Amino acid sequence: MQHKTLKPFPKDFLWGSASAAYQVEGAWDTEGKGPSVWDEFVRIPGKTFKGTNGDVAVDHYHRFKEDVALMAEQGLKAYRFSIAWSRIFPKGHGEVNEAGLAFYDALVDELVAHNITPVITLYHWDIPQAIQDEYGGWESRRIIQDFTDYAEVCFKRYGDRVKYWVTLNEQNVFISHGYKLALHPPGLTDDKRMFQANHIANLSNASAIAKFRELGMDGKIGPSFAYGPNYAIDGKPENALAADNSEEFNAHLWMDVYTWGEYPIAVWNWLEDNGFAPDLEPGDTELLKKGKPDFMGVNYYRTMTNAANPLDGVGVGKMNTTGEKGSTQESGLPGVYRHVNNPYLEKTNWDWDIDPTGLRVGLRRIASRYRLPILITENGLGEYDTLEEGNEIHDEYRIDYIRAHSIAIQEAITDGVEMLGYCTWSFTDLLSWLNGYQKRYGFVYVDRDENDEKELARYKKDSFYWYQKTIKENGANLINE
Ligand code: BG6
Repeated sequence: MQHKTLKPFPKDFLWGSASAAYQVEGAWDTEGKGPSVWDEFVRIPGKTFKGTNGDVAVDHYHRFKEDVALMAEQGLKAYRFSIAWSRIFPKGHGEVNEAGLAFYDALVDELVAHNITPVITLYHWDIPQAIQDEYGGWESRRIIQDFTDYAEVCFKRYGDRVKYWVTLNEQNVFISHGYKLALHPPGLTDDKRMFQANHIANLSNASAIAKFRELGMDGKIGPSFAYGPNYAIDGKPENALAADNSEEFNAHLWMDVYTWGEYPIAVWNWLEDNGFAPDLEPGDTELLKKGKPDFMGVNYYRTMTNAANPLDGVGVGKMNTTGEKGSTQESGLPGVYRHVNNPYLEKTNWDWDIDPTGLRVGLRRIASRYRLPILITENGLGEYDTLEEGNEIHDEYRIDYIRAHSIAIQEAITDGVEMLGYCTWSFTDLLSWLNGYQKRYGFVYVDRDENDEKELARYKKDSFYWYQKTIKENGANLINE
């Protein structure tokens, strides 16, 4: 649909940016922090690009004041960051580490002092290693209580200053990568265990939200979901069905549970037929239904294009984690869908389709199906950047990307979608889990690479200034540029 004019962004629209503890903090064993599963996983040879890890990352733990000062200079309205569970509970439960709590107190205070709205993610993939060892992490129902207790400590400690909370970051990613693709901890390839762990993560998410309600917290809470809306490659009915299948298996399977506490019918049927259905215990559905979020957090990077896939068709394919364009292998779920190349879309050097219209499509689908406001908790361009003379970085490709996606948001607003804000990924450059440091997302360049931490100096990219202007004008500049 085309509009004669676009509605303005709401006055209180949260122009923000985001990060995650493991990707920025460093200080991996500092001041009482326990190891997380990532601290161990990165030490397994061959798991990450050039063996990179987050031991130092971009040293945000020690430089957060410098980073917040840059956010303030840019005029950022919101900053989404995650708390490392094992800084608060080094063993996952039991004794609280006061130094860990104090670190996030200081960060929150610094943000609030600069009029930046903190958005806290409780879990961005770094479960304490201790509970992985003790009871198998997401595979045991014991984690439901431990996660809820950890969430409660955070709600009570920061809730006076923090009004936006994200429960789990990209459950679909950490579960599929951890239990099917062996790309994330615990490095398994077992569908049955994957769907079981996923169900327990669903219950943990709902339980934390139920606790938020029970405590009468003043604020909003929701999960962040990695949503890649699905297209069919063409009008052939089998391919349209494959696109529907992919939407059911890669989106509804999570967002339906978050919103309604129910699994989508066709997916549940498939899980039962294939022996993958998780154990549903009495009380599970009631708990899931208590987990309805206040908003849907959306991490959007790309769309997926689909074609039919026979029962003996394509399965898991290799991902491009090297930045060698064209090295991604085709992948799919046999008998369900196959992800194929979309010839209409440009790709990044990591083979991710660039599709701002897909963002608008996705926002509308969520708004119509779930009737929830949306907070974009991640969106951005991972690319190579070049540090030029005078410490300048001319990343006009990133400006183009963020501008186009911002316009898509404005179009979605004009379509009637209720949007709370837009947190780009990321504020500073950071560690890209599997892709090392060369895949950069930030407005602020951090001078380090895979081989050398150097001085970790911060330099503002051209995109920093562009976003500064956009925030200042509340997006009024977008369509006139
Ligand atoms: C999301 C994650 O999957 O996408 C982030 O929440 C991640 O933590 C981002 O960094 C970009 O992905 P990648 O693989 O390019 O780092």
